[in-house]
Amino acid sequence: MTEPLVLGIETSCDETGVGLVRGGTLLFDAIASSVDEHARFGGVVPEVASRAHLEAMVPTIERACREAGVRLQDVDAVAVTAGPGLAGALLVGVAAAKALAVALDRPIYGVNHLAAHVAVDVVEHGPLPEPTMGLLVSGGHSNLLLVPDVTHDIRSLGATIDDAAGEAFDKVARLLGLPFPGGPHIDRAAREGDQVAIDFPRGLTSGRDLQRHRFDYSFSGLKTAVARWVQAREQAGEPVPVADVAASFQEAVVDVLTRKAVLACTEHGVDDLLIGGGVAANSRLRALAQERCDAAGIRLRVPRPGLCTDNGAMVAALGAQMVQRGRTPSDLDLPADSSQPV
Ligand code: KG4
Ligand code: ZN
Repeated sequence: MTEPLVLGIETSCDETGVGLVRGGTLLFDAIASSVDEHARFGGVVPEVASRAHLEAMVPTIERACREAGVRLQDVDAVAVTAGPGLAGALLVGVAAAKALAVALDRPIYGVNHLAAHVAVDVVEHGPLPEPTMGLLVSGGHSNLLLVPDVTHDIRSLGATIDDAAGEAFDKVARLLGLPFPGGPHIDRAAREGDQVAIDFPRGLTSGRDLQRHRFDYSFSGLKTAVARWVQAREQAGEPVPVADVAASFQEAVVDVLTRKAVLACTEHGVDDLLIGGGVAANSRLRALAQERCDAAGIRLRVPRPGLCTDNGAMVAALGAQMVQRGRTPSDLDLPADSSQPV
């Protein structure tokens, strides 16, 4: 018997994602993004995102089926991001998934967006080791997750207490006059810069702060430090060395992210670290994480960049694992929950 075909829908932010996964194999991942419509506002505008999801939903489902070479009727289960995310954006995906589940008479699985960021790696690197440590870094999240079983047991060890890592990248990029979303631009600019040129602060890494927030992150102090540094330069009439600022800022972020992730692994006896979310595309984060994991005897898994940013494959991948493990499907009155915990 062939394994069940799962269609996953993701609409928690500005990407309309539809993925088709059979067992542990990704058949196709279709994405429509409204990121260009948000660029001129310097951040995602919820109303614009919801409207774009509504317009993109049916064409994206059709495209995923066409490219995967399957018919909608072949789908055995529907999975959808139920939260966390933008309320109006989530509702579009959840409503579409319910409509499909009813029309096809198939079960629906409401999944957690953060869990899906972890689960997606099965389509690239095979079954997840249990437990896995997950470091999730995106525009909306910075979380350390202990994952004994991605389908129903995820424990939050820590999270950002203010800005998310990606948000810090975006805000600092704006300060430096780089376009939105700023992460990739900082990453590129940093390659020409000196990462030890400026000693920016590492939040919650020493003394009482570390004691109280062992696995939490904080990036707003760093962002303010960069703003002050740039302002002082400008007031003195001196040019701002964009590459050096980008490299030094980036180093401060990835230093803290990797330091605490490795600490979480060693303290919890976990041998596998998985990094996901849009910021996992960062080249310096990947390099430093590899270096530190090698030194600590930890295996590192990072999905390819297209699977790190929001997509439908991650939802389908988690749905497929829920089907495989015999998890109970959701009811048809499944709500969208913008602040759903893991
Ligand atoms: O996961 P994602 O696509 O969407 C959510 O926020 O959920 O992540 C987007 C974030 C943005 O803040 C973007 O600037 C950041 O990921 N990002 C990066 C890189 N590529 C994307 N940050 C640092 N370096 C990158 N190469
Ligand atoms: Zn995400």
